[in-house]
Amino acid sequence: MVSTGVLQPARLVVAITGATGAIYGVRLLQRLRAMGGVETHLMVSSAGWLTLRHELGLERTDVQALADAYHSVREVGANLASGSFATAGMVVAPCSMKTLASVAHGLSDNLIARAADVTLKERRRLVLMVRETPFNLAHLRNMTAVTEMGGIVYPPLPAFYNHPASLDAMVDDTVARVIDLFGIAPPVSTSWNGLGKDADVQDR
Ligand SMILES: Cc1cc2nc3c(=O)[nH]c(=O)nc-3n(C[C@H](O)[C@H](O)[C@H](O)COP(=O)(O)O)c2cc1C
Repeated sequence: MVSTGVLQPARLVVAITGATGAIYGVRLLQRLRAMGGVETHLMVSSAGWLTLRHELGLERTDVQALADAYHSVREVGANLASGSFATAGMVVAPCSMKTLASVAHGLSDNLIARAADVTLKERRRLVLMVRETPFNLAHLRNMTAVTEMGGIVYPPLPAFYNHPASLDAMVDDTVARVIDLFGIAPPVSTSWNGLGKDADVQDR
């Protein structure tokens, strides 16, 4: 379990960037609000606003209302820009290759990249739900760099072994696993209990 110190409620920073899959950021915020006990701080990049509208038909006020606090990416003097503002960590959902590159190279060129930089320097949990396909070498090297710095690269790849009944179920399963990485609440994802008697491939 990740230590969240004495902070109650736990604070989680959420950023939505312009990779496809804006639904991941939205469902993450909705799930955290439904759980209760987590104070969410949201940032959305310019391209993130584009995908939120294009993929989900959501406008700024709809999305901002899902979080406890909203910060413009230009607000580099915001509380999130300082390590003294205690948080349990940060999720970028989804994370574009551009934001991945900024984080991997410590650019801090907007509040999202700065908050991620702060999260890494304070040794807090950083989860990047990177989305692109296929990857080029720059993408792969940047993911390696973030991993070497202690971040978690978590591409939102669906699992099929739980037999998800819908796209929503797939998204919710992925989001639940990301929340569980922070240890800020009892586990919310479905735990795999094994294949039982079908587990042994030697008998096939
Ligand atoms: C509809 C749409 C889908 C996109 N999908 C991706 C994607 O899956 N991955 C990616 O890295 N960039 C994607 N892009 C491009 C990014 O939005 C673009 O590189 C942008 O500069 C990212 O900036 P940001 O990281 O500040 O949001 C997409 C753009 C649009 C308009």
